[in-house]
Order: sequence, then structure tokens, then C-alpha cells
Amino acid sequence: MDNRPIGFFDSGLGGLTCIPSLMNALPNERIVYFGDTARTPYGSKAVGTIRNFAFEITDFLAAEDVKMIVIACNTVSATCLAELRARHPDLPLIGIISPAAHAVAASCTEKNRIGVIGTKVTIQSGAYRAKILKLAPGLNIFEAPCPIFVPLIEEGIIENEIMDLSIRRYLDDFTEANGIDTLVLGCTHYPLIKENISRLYPGLSIVDPSTEVIKSIEGSLAGYGLFADGAEAGHVFYASDLSENFVNMIERIFKGSGFTVAFKNFDLESMV
Ligand code: DGL
Repeated sequence: MDNRPIGFFDSGLGGLTCIPSLMNALPNERIVYFGDTARTPYGSKAVGTIRNFAFEITDFLAAEDVKMIVIACNTVSATCLAELRARHPDLPLIGIISPAAHAVAASCTEKNRIGVIGTKVTIQSGAYRAKILKLAPGLNIFEAPCPIFVPLIEEGIIENEIMDLSIRRYLDDFTEANGIDTLVLGCTHYPLIKENISRLYPGLSIVDPSTEVIKSIEGSLAGYGLFADGAEAGHVFYASDLSENFVNMIERIFKGSGFTVAFKNFDLESMV
């Protein structure tokens, strides 16, 4: 039994998409989330920059005495998971790409045409392709970066024709030319536009890593004997910029579940 919180982080509000399923599956667990809203998006930045941001955030979460860290960001998971594990050898660190790769390998066959969409850095890393093919070498995988989605989502431009046009700009030719039937949402922001994608491409089967990662979290908590018994209450959501959209999103998703929203910016320590 361990009542310390589970740490989560992302470049912004994308990682929040993992949390409702976690709360349903494991209602005793408490969460400390960090969204780097002041420095989002990560997905078009240099790998060294992303790594430094991830070091700062994981050091901060470790100092908050979390029992585990979930890297709710594909871009970080794709680029520096091994370095983060080496930096925090005593903390279980869960990436988001392996759970999704296992789900694809378990549910797809060589007849499927699997599309993976993500940030530029995630797609350039080839992490999804490598992990899926390691588990199921014969699968057909096609990849496409969609760099405009994250800035639009962080701005709250979702139920909107600008978002629909952007989706079609990236996915019309990609799905058509490659005959895609299965689409992996390789960025934790993308579940927020899942309904737009399903409406525009009703035949696509969608794999959402933000729900797949819950099984890994559960397995890891069980393996290390870290389940909480619900004795402590109150989630904390930190952001490096308390943007209106971030705060509204938290209030919408977590209404009634007892939480605090707090400011934490490594570059502006004295600001409130
Ligand atoms: N949500 C993140 C991911 O899964 C980061 C996106 C970004 O900041 O570009 O990759």
C-alpha cells in the first residue's frame, strides 16, 4: 500500500486525456499533474531542448514525492525515456508508446493498413514503427506528422471548421493514398479531436494510447505493491502558464473530484 500520488506530465493539456480512465479504473489514486503550457508545443523542438524540459519536470515531480511518473507525452516518450529512467532509477517511469504498440500488435493483422499520426519529433523518431514491428514484424505501418493540431487544441479550437480543415489537410491524402483502416493517435492531445476524426472518417478504427496506458499503470502499481487505499484526497494540477483553456479544461473534466490548480514555472520562479 502506498498513498503517495502518481505523477503525470505533458507539454500542456494533452496528458489530461489519460486521467479520466485512470480515475475510473483506480479511484483511490491521487494525481499530481504538470502541464508545461508556457513552453508547449514540444513536438517541433530540438530533441536536446525536449530532454532538458523533461529533466526539469521529472526532477520536480520526484521532489513532490510521487510514487511513479507517467510520461503522458509521446514526444518525450519517443525521445528520452531511457535517459529519464537512468536519471530516476528508483522511480517506476511509464512511457505511452509501448502500451499502444502492444494494443496494435494484439488487434491488427497483416491485412490492416495502420496509420500513426503524431508530432514531427515523434514521427521522425520512428519509435511507434520500431515498437510495433518488434512485436508484430509483418504489419503495414504508415506515418504522418500533424504539427498544427497541438497549437490549435491548446487554443481550444476544437469544435470548429478550422480544426476540421486542418484534419482534412493532413489526413485526406494520407488515408486515401495508403488505404488506412486503423489510426493510432500518437499524441496525447489528439483524443480531444477524436470525435472530429471519427465524424470525418467514419470507417477508421481508432487506437487511443491514452486509454491503453492505464493497463501499464495498473500492472506497475500491482508489480511494485504501490496501490493506494484512498486515505488521502486531492489532485494537484500544475501548469507553467495558467492559461484559460488549461484551467477551463480541468474544471470541465474534474468537476466535483477535489483538486487544486497551481502555478509552477521553472523560468519564472518569483511569479505568482
Ligand atoms: N501531447 C504531446 C505528445 O503526446 C506533446 C505535443 C506537443 O507539445 O507538441 O506528443
